Amino acid sequence: MTSFDLVWPEQGPALIGVGIGPGDPSLVTLRAVWVLESAQVVIAPATSLASVGRAEAVVREVAPEATCERVVFVMEVDTDARNAALAAVVSCVIAHLDNGERVAFVTLGDPNVYSTFSSVAEGVAAQRPAVAVATVPGIMAFQELAARSGTVVVDGDERLVLIPAHREIGAITAAALADPQTAVVVYKGGRRVAELAVAAAAAGRLDGAVLGELLGLSGERLCPLADVITDGRPVTYLSTVIVPPRRPAASTADPL
Ligand SMILES: C[S@@+](CC[C@H](N)C(=O)[O-])C[C@H]1O[C@@H](n2cnc3c(N)ncnc32)[C@H](O)[C@@H]1O
Repeated sequence: MTSFDLVWPEQGPALIGVGIGPGDPSLVTLRAVWVLESAQVVIAPATSLASVGRAEAVVREVAPEATCERVVFVMEVDTDARNAALAAVVSCVIAHLDNGERVAFVTLGDPNVYSTFSSVAEGVAAQRPAVAVATVPGIMAFQELAARSGTVVVDGDERLVLIPAHREIGAITAAALADPQTAVVVYKGGRRVAELAVAAAAAGRLDGAVLGELLGLSGERLCPLADVITDGRPVTYLSTVIVPPRRPAASTADPL
């Protein structure tokens, strides 16, 4: 048995959430490609039916024969528009499942971390509780940022927190920054990244802190977090920050 056999059930319809990494097709796993190629339909969220979404663009690269169906997803949380869009996506998935199909739903990064897939899976499970639902893990944006910037995220007794900053930088971020043994990863920072950089500076945590925007996508930017304080350039929603733990400077003294 290969790990591929663990994904689809032996028979019957199923829904698989497939993480396809942050955007660079070379970061899509073999398991993900296998699921995309063996699904009867690949559902890809986009902001409009007229445009190829980022996840669909990756599918076109890694599984060009896959049958993609585009659905509109509204990013603004807690809005009527989002709820209506989600209900329409769930209905679309259910129509395929009722047809006996194996459905893959693609999502950036990992499907179990701040992903549209969780809401879709919940909606489907509520209406079709007998249908098998599973996920294929994807490489997350912060892992790619760590690799590309040469950042050791955590080691030894150090801890890691992942904070969504779309509402505010807030007390949780301040508390995490106040603990020098905690690595702080910030998602959804967007226009709050400059404020985050100032908070990191105030906590003495700017050393080694990095920003990655649009990783693997057109317009990519990778820089020290300190740069956003001085350059004033706007930062997009698809941005990730890593503030590594504060570590003692490596000794340059001869150990002998
Ligand atoms: C809705 S969350 C999706 C997270 C994703 N499921 C993951 O596992 O990485 C969106 C956030 O992920 C991060 N992100 C996703 N793709 C990214 C990319 N290509 N470059 C930088 N950050 C990215 C950003 O912080 C963005 O605000």
